[in-house]
This record gives sequence, structure tokens and C-alpha cells, in this order.
Amino acid sequence: MLKNINISYSEIDDFSRLSGIETKLLREAEKVIKGSYSPYSRFKVGASVLLEGDIIVSGANQENSSYPCGICAERVAVFSASSNHPGVLIKKVAITTKSNDFKLEFPAGPCGLCRQALLEFEEKQKNNIEIILFNSKKIIKIAKVKDLLPFFFIESKLKK
Ligand code: THU
Repeated sequence: MLKNINISYSEIDDFSRLSGIETKLLREAEKVIKGSYSPYSRFKVGASVLLEGDIIVSGANQENSSYPCGICAERVAVFSASSNHPGVLIKKVAITTKSNDFKLEFPAGPCGLCRQALLEFEEKQKNNIEIILFNSKKIIKIAKVKDLLPFFFIESKLKK
């Protein structure tokens, strides 16, 4: 039997349609890009996490000459949020990129590892985390991490 998975997302060109706190969240993701340490890829990523109570925690990608040691912006941001504000609800994650070497016409999505990491927080808190991808021209809103990772792996679902 053939089955389908459909994913809905919104595409926004008019930045004035964002709420005040969303605008702040996007500005924080842009700002933290300054802290990207990416001499190897020359691809900068900034991510900001909105927590309950309008707390914002952000992070940028960090690389290393031993390449696998590097970590993406999304995980820097969400692990920092979880470390500094354990148990506080994660509401939204905004992601943006900057590079002189790459074409960034469409807002870039999080890598598979980051989808997996974000998904576990979404499962744990039993509340959707909205993902906001953006560049200077466009905003893409995805209602929940699960939409980005069909057939995901989560240990708690496999326990007897
Ligand atoms: N990167 C992120 O920070 N987030 C992603 O979701 C994709 C990739 C970083 C990792 C590396 O430092 C650079 O972008 C190029 O892959």
C-alpha cells in the first residue's frame, strides 16, 4: 500500500508580518553569526532559541581543524538553552546563514544531526517547536521539528 507524508510550511516575504518577539528572535540569530568560527567551511550559521518567558538563547557554528569536532549553530544554541534553562519550554528556533562563497537564495534548513537533536527536545517537552528559516528576503516557517524528520528515531518510543 502506497502512503504519503505531506508537510505544510508557510513562506513569508513581508517581514512586518512577524510578531515583535519573532523579529527580536531573528535579529538575535543574525547577530550571533559574528561568533561563528568557520575558517574551514567559510559558511556561517546563526541560530536563536525562543523559550517560554521570552528568553532568547543563541549560538553560532564552531569548527575545528579536526573536522568532526565541529558543531552546528542549532545544537550550540539548543544545548546552551537546555543547560542554562533546564526544563523551560522551547517555543521556536530561528536559523540563518551567511557566506560569500555559497549561494544562499533560499533559506537553508538544519542538517540531519540537528533535526535529530531538536526532535528529542520536542518529544521530551510534548510541545511543538516551530522552526523559522530565513535570509534577507524570505522566511520559511515549519510548525514542528517532526515535519522535518519523518520516521524519526527516538529511544523512548522503543522501550518495552
Ligand atoms: N552548519 C550549521 O551550523 N548548521 C546546519 O544545520 C548545517 C551546517 C555548519 C556546520 C559547518 O560549520 C558549516 O555549517 C558547513 O557545513
